[in-house]
Amino acid sequence: MSDNPIVFIDSGVGGLPYLKMARENMPNENFVYVADNKNFPYGEKSTKELKKLIIDLIEKIIKKIDPKLVVIACNTASVVALSTLREKFGIPFVGVVPAIKPAGEYVVNGTIGLLATTKTVTDPYTDDLINQFASSCKVEKFAGIDLVDFVENKFLTSTEKEKMEVVFQASKYFENLKIDALVLGCTHFVYLKDYFKKSISKNVDIIDSVEGVCQQITRIINKETVKLDSSLIDISESNKTGLFYITGNQFVISKYQNFSKEFRLTWGGKL
Ligand code: DGL
Repeated sequence: MSDNPIVFIDSGVGGLPYLKMARENMPNENFVYVADNKNFPYGEKSTKELKKLIIDLIEKIIKKIDPKLVVIACNTASVVALSTLREKFGIPFVGVVPAIKPAGEYVVNGTIGLLATTKTVTDPYTDDLINQFASSCKVEKFAGIDLVDFVENKFLTSTEKEKMEVVFQASKYFENLKIDALVLGCTHFVYLKDYFKKSISKNVDIIDSVEGVCQQITRIINKETVKLDSSLIDISESNKTGLFYITGNQFVISKYQNFSKEFRLTWGGKL
């Protein structure tokens, strides 16, 4: 396939852990990350508003970057707009939706906790996922609005204690409901996975979609299934590019530049 980049989008920094794993496993690809910080947070917006702003963003990305594949590295955006994007644009899209399918296979007849944005926990798409892949399970949902904001605005500067404190409320909520697995249904929450592991009972499996999504990207790019192996490839030795763009104002530039550095991407400024 062409040298055109694989583009990842999210309302903010949530998709970066997905891009990291993809980059480590596909060293011959160029990558671009777009944080739509102008419209952050997605999770509190209406379906109509979200569809419009995501379509506008994809139009701009196709015009300016000409990607060979776009990863909607955001559960909220995927739940709301993925099918519309596939109908409207002639390029492949990989979506990120709550990992209800693996959770349903793992739990069987038990209880699954779903932690996501307000939009994702209330959207009918999520109910369809549950009916299709976890019908034998009880699914308890919780909207972690504070957690999205924390990761976007404070994650890089907060202490370990603050990170533990921020997961406490959701952990307690799910602990009381005696869940068997917790699905991290918002890409921002992947940053907090280790803190959830420490704060919730050892018997609860914490499930995210990072590996599944990267598998899907490699399947489309290579037309085959590849065994993923993160951290083996030193991306600094790759001659391929990794760029980071934002869409919003420049007041917050240093925060995003720090994320760009943290994920070893080259700062591209405003898209
Ligand atoms: N990271 C996004 C998700 O996976 C949404 C965060 C937001 O509300 O903007 O749903």
